[in-house]
Amino acid sequence: MHVHPITQMIRTRVKQTEEMEHSSPLFLTSSFCFDNAEEMRAAFADENDDNIYSRFSNPSVQEFTDRMCVLEEMEAGFASASGMSAVFASFLTFLKQGDHLLSCRAVFGSTHSVITKILPGYGIEHSYVSAEDMRGWENAIRPNTKMIFVETPTNPGLDIIDLEAAGRLAKKHNLIFCVDNCFATPIGQGPGRFGADLVIHSATKWLDGQGRVLGGIVLGNKKLIHDIYLFCRSTGPALSPFNAWVLSRSLETLEVRMERHASNAYYLAQQLEHNKAISWLKYPVLTTHPQYAIAKKQMQNGGGLLCFELKGGLESGRKFLDSLKMISRTANLGDTRSIASHPASTTHGKLSEQERMEVNITPGLIRISVGLEHREDILADILQAMEG
Ligand SMILES: Cc1ncc(COP(=O)(O)O)c(C=O)c1O
Repeated sequence: MHVHPITQMIRTRVKQTEEMEHSSPLFLTSSFCFDNAEEMRAAFADENDDNIYSRFSNPSVQEFTDRMCVLEEMEAGFASASGMSAVFASFLTFLKQGDHLLSCRAVFGSTHSVITKILPGYGIEHSYVSAEDMRGWENAIRPNTKMIFVETPTNPGLDIIDLEAAGRLAKKHNLIFCVDNCFATPIGQGPGRFGADLVIHSATKWLDGQGRVLGGIVLGNKKLIHDIYLFCRSTGPALSPFNAWVLSRSLETLEVRMERHASNAYYLAQQLEHNKAISWLKYPVLTTHPQYAIAKKQMQNGGGLLCFELKGGLESGRKFLDSLKMISRTANLGDTRSIASHPASTTHGKLSEQERMEVNITPGLIRISVGLEHREDILADILQAMEG
């Protein structure tokens, strides 16, 4: 019977035990036993897929991974302790001394630190290119370029990278095309359809959806993921089985949650767009977004994040945060509870003023992760905080 991917994902689970439980059990164990020496030898010799040790594999982690493979239409995956360990493992598995990485300029703060502070220590160079300038991307490719890395929509400025164009470029130059799909989620965007070789998620965000656990995952074809697995098996950024079990349960409601997050966000974007307290507002599928046409082409919905620039800069940004009565002031995103952040004074506070401006992190920029509270209550809190 051919079933919809959502059905397939929800019905993918670890093998039922003799207890005949309906919901998947949690395999909270560090290691696994063998009946005899020969079975143990065969497992260590990679002659079968038996679990050995939870740094290598674990059934609860595998269930989460298998469900994500269905959602991202990818052959294989490796789940890791956080989004950043998924990003780092993807870089370090494939980039070696003397290699060059091409990346979109606006990337998550810690990804920026890895690219600019950690990779150079391993002799790995990079070039940043901006979202709007696809011709600049081709010009930046060097003989030693190995990978194109993009985040779309970007954090926190919600720029859109043209996945089709970037995927075509990667193919033409035989480069690994790696996409951080954290903001859109597999419900909102399928990078594999545009040629992505690797798709990364911080599972900490929308995949968990309730701000409880850290997690990350990278998905791709069997060969690439096996290489990442070998890197992680030895270096150790394994996802906790408990976190995997939580995340796997969350995936069952991902589609319905994301539909409401996105419809709430679209409503707020429309209501706030012309507010006199702001100079601009960005939401990927608003016609006023500079890359609206690309967003419409590659995204199923605009996602759950919007951002705007408060008139009055840094002081207005801080005052806005202080005036919120319901919306949380916290570093996370992708929660049932709406969250506001002021990147210039927090997540991107370590960047210089010039570096912030290069990635469009203006002084009064506010990012809202739109939750599942009633949309009128979220709107009312934003409006009263804008009045200060
Ligand atoms: C786009 C993006 N990628 C990666 C990460 C890192 O994820 P984690 O915090 O799970 O390490 C984040 C975290 O906010 C993010 O927003």
